[in-house]
Amino acid sequence: MTNTDPVKVGVLYSQTGATSAIESSQRLGTLMAIEEINEAGGINGREIVAIQYDPASNLHQFRAHAERLVAIDNVNVIFGCYMSSTRKAVIPVVEKYNRILFYATLYEGFEFSNNIIYTGAAPNQNSVQLADYMMSSFGGRVYLVGSDYIYPYESNRIMSDLVNQRPGGSVVAQRYVPLDAGAREFDAIAAEIREMQPDFIFSTVVGNATQHLYRAYAEAGLNPKTLPIASLTTSEVEVAQMGAQAAAGHFTAAPYFSSIDTPENWRVTDRFRARFGDDVRPNACWEAAYFQVHMFANAMRATGTDVVPLLMRQLLGTEFVAPQGRVRIEPGNHHTHLYPRIGRVNSKGEFSIVRASKQAVAPDPYLVTHSLGDWTLALEALPD
Ligand code: ACM
Repeated sequence: MTNTDPVKVGVLYSQTGATSAIESSQRLGTLMAIEEINEAGGINGREIVAIQYDPASNLHQFRAHAERLVAIDNVNVIFGCYMSSTRKAVIPVVEKYNRILFYATLYEGFEFSNNIIYTGAAPNQNSVQLADYMMSSFGGRVYLVGSDYIYPYESNRIMSDLVNQRPGGSVVAQRYVPLDAGAREFDAIAAEIREMQPDFIFSTVVGNATQHLYRAYAEAGLNPKTLPIASLTTSEVEVAQMGAQAAAGHFTAAPYFSSIDTPENWRVTDRFRARFGDDVRPNACWEAAYFQVHMFANAMRATGTDVVPLLMRQLLGTEFVAPQGRVRIEPGNHHTHLYPRIGRVNSKGEFSIVRASKQAVAPDPYLVTHSLGDWTLALEALPD
């Protein structure tokens, strides 16, 4: 007899707390993929059912809800986590119960778990290209500002190494603010930047606090033409929160921007807008959250089961035509081949893509073989 039971999956993205806006976009990207799969007949006739909790941007709640998903709801697969601190909280759960976490967020690298598929960028797919672009375009003196948790510390360590590798490169200061920092917490930072006059700022501020950094920068009279902010975590979502005026002229490196001109991107973003409206902006973390669900469904169709060792074996090495281009899960490290791009916010609050790799770059989460300026074999320099 054919199995027609629904396939239950866990969905763990915060709808409240410091990273609620970006995680809400990931949640909706996940739900849209699930709808598409169900409309197309599910997984071999089995409907996917999402079991969702709101872990409130809190690592203890992430761990507790992950435990509940696997031990009580009995899901084999969880889609979720944004902050690295929350992923680190969920790893012991998926490892203990032998389940799979699909993680759709850029992060600091230097990690491997047999129970995770990483679909966001590793540092060799965004930091390396961003350091190269910013130092070539603006100079080597960088000011680092971040939120107070593991991703910013580690991402800043990597950026510092990249900057110091190049003649004239130096870190002029490194500052941290609380995750829930408000408008006034960035005033002193903006004043210090004005005084120090670095060549550019590297921001690892995440979530809803991001808008306050960019506004404080603008209020301090700083000019993105000569001293821009570069980031990996300021996406279309944070740009919408701060407004085009505060965002224009600043840079982000990511494998995906909603302005990418591919047929698959227009199809997916049109559908998303029609289904969920204009409030939630497609962005790189949304795109990875979307395509990883399809990769899961394709793997489960092929194996006929979500039993973890079989599903994981099937996932490794598989490809998918995502909005950013054709992506592939690297069997050796469970990370994904992705397309480095650099976007600059224009006056409409959209990212104009100023540089893009023609080919997917293999993930190198331990930065074993990277070199500064490595855009892999092909590099497409696009007009401003
Ligand atoms: C992050 O914490 N990986 C953005």
